Amino acid sequence: SGPKPLEGRHVLLTAGPTREPLDPVRYLSNHSSGRQGYAIAGALAELGAQVTLVSGPVSIASPRGVDLVSVETAREMMAACEAALPADVFVSVAAVADWRPSSPADRKLKLKDEGKGPPALSLSENPDILSTISRLEKGRPQLVVGFAAETDTVEENALRKRARKGCDWIVANDVSGDVMGGADNEIALVTDAGVENWPRMGKTAVARRLAERIAEDLNGKGKP
Ligand code: C5P
Repeated sequence: SGPKPLEGRHVLLTAGPTREPLDPVRYLSNHSSGRQGYAIAGALAELGAQVTLVSGPVSIASPRGVDLVSVETAREMMAACEAALPADVFVSVAAVADWRPSSPADRKLKLKDEGKGPPALSLSENPDILSTISRLEKGRPQLVVGFAAETDTVEENALRKRARKGCDWIVANDVSGDVMGGADNEIALVTDAGVENWPRMGKTAVARRLAERIAEDLNGKGKP
């Protein structure tokens, strides 16, 4: 077999949830398992890419041949991505928390103190990693791929999200069913050429097919 199609390419990929502390023992987070992102990282490495996988806390093993950078919060994830650039491709699979508690307590909150009732929770906006990297004036990756986990009007939202984030492709999936944490995924790929609906398949199969599409795009196939 000849040289691998992504040999010499650096791919930066985020995966998993982020964890936003409320105090030393509590946090806000989500149900992302990291499975789809890890599968894509592995598939890209198999095609010869040097992959930096910036991951929030997950309970699955790192794929073979990728450089894993473990983070917890969105701000740590942003900083780790900036440190890992430049990259030829950025794939943003992480379920980044949009908000974080504004001032996490440095001691465990006593939630039932003095019969005061529930404390107010003040939130601040996290950096949008995908938008930030999509809009880099210097050193923007050649291909930027975002994900959109939606529960309704999946395609419509994906088209809007692609414009809002400034990325090249959006991988849209319907998470109203058993996708989050499950083995299968059913996605729509939104590119500048339009929307492709892929049949339901395993997350590994989605990953392989997406990695191949990325390689084709970088190597100029399918372009006029
Ligand atoms: O806006 P929404 O969270 O639905 O967008 C999802 C896409 O944006 C995903 O690719 C996700 O990784 C990325 N994202 C990000 N930073 C955020 C929020 C989302 O990179 N703070």
